[in-house]
Amino acid sequence: MLLLPFQLLAVLFPGGDSEDAFQGPTSFRVTQISSFANSTWAHHQGAGWLDDLQIHGWDSDSGTAILLKPWSKGNFSDEEFAELEGVFRVHYFVFTQEIQQRASEFQMEYPIEIQGIAGCELHSGGAIVSFLRGALGGLDFLSAQNDTCVPAPEGGSSAQYVCKLIMQYQGVIDNVKKLLLETCPRYLLGVLDAGKAELQRQVKPEAWLSSGPSPGPGHLLLVCHVSGFYPKPVWVRWMRGEQEQPGTWHSDLLPNADWTWYLRTTLDVAVGEAAGLSCRVKHSSLEGQDIILHWGHPISIGLIFLTIIMPSLILLLCLALWYKRRRSYQDIP
Ligand SMILES: *[C@@H]1O[C@H](CO)[C@@H](O)[C@H](O)[C@H]1NC(C)=O
Ligand SMILES: *[C@@H]1O[C@H](CO)[C@@H](O)[C@H](O)[C@H]1NC(C)=O
Ligand SMILES: *[C@@H]1O[C@H](CO)[C@@H](O)[C@H](O)[C@H]1NC(C)=O
Repeated sequence: MLLLPFQLLAVLFPGGDSEDAFQGPTSFRVTQISSFANSTWAHHQGAGWLDDLQIHGWDSDSGTAILLKPWSKGNFSDEEFAELEGVFRVHYFVFTQEIQQRASEFQMEYPIEIQGIAGCELHSGGAIVSFLRGALGGLDFLSAQNDTCVPAPEGGSSAQYVCKLIMQYQGVIDNVKKLLLETCPRYLLGVLDAGKAELQRQVKPEAWLSSGPSPGPGHLLLVCHVSGFYPKPVWVRWMRGEQEQPGTWHSDLLPNADWTWYLRTTLDVAVGEAAGLSCRVKHSSLEGQDIILHWGHPISIGLIFLTIIMPSLILLLCLALWYKRRRSYQDIP
């Protein structure tokens, strides 16, 4: 148990202080979300991502990619990029037709929600591994493994049927294989290089404290906000001196619009124990100069309420009662 924080630290700062530790994304994937409301209505959302940073959108009306960064084409020529747009245009067209014409043959019932993800990832040591997976109604449906379409158990007989059908189209399999095993790795390395200045930049976090909704009588929720940092790995803890406080809760890492991240870290403490606590932030951009914020000096609203307003209210109440009693004594005939 005691080792856990150090293991976490190792996960959050992969590579430690080795010089060539690569900061930033290591994978490229395209995602597809397709909705079929009925046999005539279909809508597709397409996107391209470096890990969780979106660099492409898809305009279904014109059948073209939306470039979200000046370097979204990587090192591909305009011709090669346009060719790939064409491949996706045909893909969406054929995909829509196949689902609409064969929904009942595939045992799919409207409304149909299909999600697809395909791409490649750079592993340590330089190996690049490609992947392709599809889901139906939020459940795994099929995946590509080597040259084979593998139905997911959750996909049942429907997935087995679709995979068997796909395996009959050798031309399609060869094209997908080329995209996954040749085009994707070449594009990934090129785009990581083209976007290097932005992908490997270091942006310092800002941090501030607030109190959250009271978790119960006599308790305070201390909130430490950390925002605007890049890259994503960050370490935030509530501390008493050098001692990490147990019971710290982390929100999900949320994206800001400017490609930086936000994290909220909370701690539930008894009112009397808040003093002396601090929030500590470690991030690669801080180069070892951790941010440390101490709780308690700016007077919190809770404290004002407890020390000033509450006693005043009690005093007022006592006065009112005393006055009422006096009145009722005087009223006795
Ligand atoms: C198909 O679904 C769309 C979107 O929900 C709807 O506007 C349209 O009327 C539906 N068409 C039919 C034939 O049910
Ligand atoms: C894919 O193929 C390689 C070699 O051809 C083999 O070692 C590996 O086990 C295969 N993987 C799967 C999931 O079939
Ligand atoms: C792009 O960069 C990759 C990796 O450095 C390289 O293999 C490829 O030849 C370059 N050019 C194109 C057009 O892909």
